[in-house]
Amino acid sequence: MRAILLSQNLFRRGLTILSIAAVAAILVAGGSARSEEKPEAGVRLEFWKGHFDRNSDAFHEWDSEKEIPAVCARCHSAIGLPEYLTDGKNAPAQHVKNGFACTNCHADLLTYARQNVAKVTFPGGLIVDSGHNDSNLCMTCHQGRESTASVNKAIAGLPLDTPDPKLNFIHVHFYPAGATRYGTEAKVGYEYDGKKYVGYFPHMPNVSTCTGCHSPHDGEVKIDRCGGCHDGIKTVADLANIRMSTRGDFDGNGKEEGLAREIAGLQAQLYAAIQTYAKNVGGVGIGFSEAAYPHWFADRNGNGRIDPEEVSPANKYPAYTPRLLQAVYNYTYSVRDPGGAYHNGRYILQLLYDSLDSLAASGKANVTMTGKVRP
Ligand code: HEC
Ligand code: HEC
Ligand code: HEC
Ligand code: HEC
Ligand code: HEC
Repeated sequence: MRAILLSQNLFRRGLTILSIAAVAAILVAGGSARSEEKPEAGVRLEFWKGHFDRNSDAFHEWDSEKEIPAVCARCHSAIGLPEYLTDGKNAPAQHVKNGFACTNCHADLLTYARQNVAKVTFPGGLIVDSGHNDSNLCMTCHQGRESTASVNKAIAGLPLDTPDPKLNFIHVHFYPAGATRYGTEAKVGYEYDGKKYVGYFPHMPNVSTCTGCHSPHDGEVKIDRCGGCHDGIKTVADLANIRMSTRGDFDGNGKEEGLAREIAGLQAQLYAAIQTYAKNVGGVGIGFSEAAYPHWFADRNGNGRIDPEEVSPANKYPAYTPRLLQAVYNYTYSVRDPGGAYHNGRYILQLLYDSLDSLAASGKANVTMTGKVRP
C-alpha cells in the first residue's frame, strides 16, 4: 500500500526519467522499509577512519589544555555521549587517544545494542524525534551549535546596514547533517523573517536514515545504493549529477544541473556578493579561510583573498552589519555541510538564495536575482 502511494506520487510530479527497474526497486524497498532497522551482516570496522580517526583535529584541539572543556565534551570526548544523554550536559573530559570508544554509541557490547536516544534537541531548542533510534543518535552530535535564534539574538534592534564592531562571526560548527535533514523543523540555518523553508526531506525507504546512506563507523557513503534509482551513479564523484524532482535553474546559469552543482553555483555568487557588500558598506574587504577560527578575516591588502599573514585573531573581520552576518552565517553553513545537496538540497538552496536576495536588496552588492529561481 505504502509503496503504491509512493510511486503514484512520483508520477504526479512528472518523473518520467525513472526506469522500470527503478520503480521496481522502490516497490521492493517500500515493502520492506522496516529492514533498515536491522544492521547489515558483517559490519566493517576500519581503524583508524571516521569516528576512530585518532589523529583527527576533532580529537586534538585541546591537547595543550588540561582537559576537554565541558561544552565540547558531548561530541569530542571518547565517552561523552552517554553522560550527555543521561544528564543533559557534560563534565570536562579526558583527552582522546583512539577516537570514540565503542561504548560511546553501543549500550551493550554483547548485543551491540545502541544507546537509547528518544529525541534530539537542536541548538535553537527545537526538538525532533526521527522515529529511528540510530538517526537520533547521529543527530545528537551532527546538529551544529548555532541557529536562527542565536543570530537573531546577536542582531536584535540593530540597523541592517550599519557596521557594528560588537558583532562577531557566528559559526554554525562542523558537519550539521542532522539539522539539514530537518530543515525548518530544526532552524539551524539562518531563516529570514517572512520567508518559508522546507522541513524534513523524506527521500525513499532504505535511504532516509543516516545509516541507510552511511556506514556508522567510518562514515562512508553506501554509494552502491544510489545507482538503482539514480541513473549513472557509480562513484562519489558521480553524486553531483543527481537531479530528480526539484525543478528550476536555481543559480541562473542557464541550465538545470545536478543539485550539488546548483548549490556550488549559488555559493560562488553569494561569496562574491558578500565580498562586494563588505567592501562597500564596511569599508574593508572580507574573505573566508579554513586556516583558523574565526574563519572570516579582513582582506587588508585588497587582493580578494586571505593570505597567511592576514590569518590572525587580531585581524578578524571588524565591520559586520546585521545583513552581512546573516549572509556569512548561511554561506558558512552551506560549506560546513558538504553533504547538503543529499541531506536536503532544497533547504540549502533556499538559505543561499535568500542570503543573495537580501544582499541584492541592499543595492550595495552588485548582484541581481534575474534568472535565478527560489526552490
Ligand atoms: C553538538 C556536537 C558538537 C559540539 C558540542 C562541539 N563540536 Fe566540534 N565538531 C563536531 C563535529 C560533528 C565535528 C566533525 C567535523 C570535522 O571533523 O570536520 C567537529 C569538529 C570540530 C573541530 C575540527 C574541525 C576540523 O578542522 O576538522 C574542532 C576544532 C572543533 N570541532 C572544536 C570544537 C570546540 C572548541 C567545541 C566546544 C567549544 C566543540 N567543537 C563542540 C561537533 C561538535
Ligand atoms: C558513532 C557511534 C558508533 C560507534 C562509536 C561505534 N558504533 Fe558500532 N554501530 C553503530 C550503529 C549506529 C550501528 C548499526 C548500523 C546499521 O544499522 O547499519 C552499529 C553496528 C555495529 C555492529 C553490528 C551490530 C549487529 O547487530 O549486527 C557491530 C558488531 C559494531 N557496531 C561494533 C562496534 C565496535 C566494536 C565499536 C568500537 C570499536 C563500535 N561499533 C563503535 C554506531 C557506533
Ligand atoms: C559522539 C558524537 C558523534 C556521534 C554520535 C556521531 N558522530 Fe559522526 N562524527 C563525529 C565527529 C567528532 C566526527 C569527526 C571525526 C573525524 O574528524 O574523523 C564525525 C565524522 C563523521 C563523518 C565523516 C567521516 C569522515 O571521515 O569524513 C560522517 C559521515 C559521520 N560522522 C556520520 C555519522 C553517522 C551516520 C552517525 C550515526 C551512526 C554519527 N556520525 C554519529 C561525531 C559524532
Ligand atoms: C540520501 C543519503 C544520505 C542520507 C540519508 C544522509 N547522508 Fe550524509 N551524506 C550523503 C552524501 C552523498 C554525502 C557526501 C559525501 C561526499 O561527497 O563524500 C554526505 C555527507 C555527510 C557528511 C560529511 C562527510 C564528509 O566527509 O564530507 C556527514 C558528517 C554526514 N553526511 C552525516 C550524516 C548524518 C548524521 C545523517 C543523518 C542525519 C546523514 N548524513 C544522512 C548521503 C546521505
Ligand atoms: C529507491 C530509489 C532511490 C534510491 C535507492 C536513492 N534515491 Fe535519491 N531519490 C529518489 C527519488 C524518487 C527522489 C525524488 C524524491 C522527492 O523529491 O521526494 C530522490 C531524490 C534525491 C535527491 C534530490 C534530487 C532533487 O532534484 O531534488 C538527491 C540529492 C538524492 N536523491 C540522492 C541520493 C543518494 C546520494 C542516494 C544513494 C545513497 C540515493 N539518492 C538513493 C529515489 C532513490
